[in-house]
Amino acid sequence: MRLEVLSEASDPRLLASVLALKPGHGQDRYCLPASMTYPPASADPLRVPFAVMAALDGPEGASGGERVVGFGTLDRHGQLEHLLDEPARGLLLRAFYVGRPHQGRGYGTAAARRARALAHALEPEAQLLVLCVHESNTAARTAYARAGFADSGARWMAQAADPQVVMVAALQPR
Ligand SMILES: CC(C)(COP(=O)(O)OP(=O)(O)OC[C@H]1O[C@@H](n2cnc3c(N)ncnc32)[C@H](O)[C@@H]1OP(=O)(O)O)[C@@H](O)C(=O)NCCC(=O)NCCS
Repeated sequence: MRLEVLSEASDPRLLASVLALKPGHGQDRYCLPASMTYPPASADPLRVPFAVMAALDGPEGASGGERVVGFGTLDRHGQLEHLLDEPARGLLLRAFYVGRPHQGRGYGTAAARRARALAHALEPEAQLLVLCVHESNTAARTAYARAGFADSGARWMAQAADPQVVMVAALQPR
């Protein structure tokens, strides 16, 4: 599993796979599909979109190449100014999901952990990777905790009735 930074220079077939990747039915309250979040992210110099790439196992264990299993963005701005006293110390993990057919296989946990290293590579001076996750999103909270994120105790009220847990992790050199 690895993360690949996306840009308009990326392979068009890779971008098409990313744009076709969807979270499951009913998960759109947690995360919008890349078809909606990739275009604005790719046009914003403060956001870095990435694909979660996983190896395809070929016959008898032979490598069968890779496929896109997830998507996310690292954001240098977003609501960071509301989440950190010093916004420049952190990056935000947003729009993150694993495509429905690929969920429950450890990709979300592994990708969230790798995102800490990617954030460090992008912003060596930053110290924290921050994310907001709905309190009811047990799968995501479990995956993030296993990836080294901790509940900061703060809550982000994007919608008044639906508080989100603010989780933070130290950036991780590779
Ligand atoms: C949340 C998400 C990223 C986790 O990725 P994943 O690859 O499915 O998760 P993992 O396989 O790493 O599983 C981590 C743990 O989450 C839990 N989990 C995973 N899928 C779950 C599900 N559908 N229901 C309940 N718990 C679940 C399990 O406890 C799992 O641990 P296990 O190995 O003991 O079973 C992914 O499920 C997803 O994209 N969900 C929809 C969109 C979303 O919620 N994005 C996050 C927005 S903040």
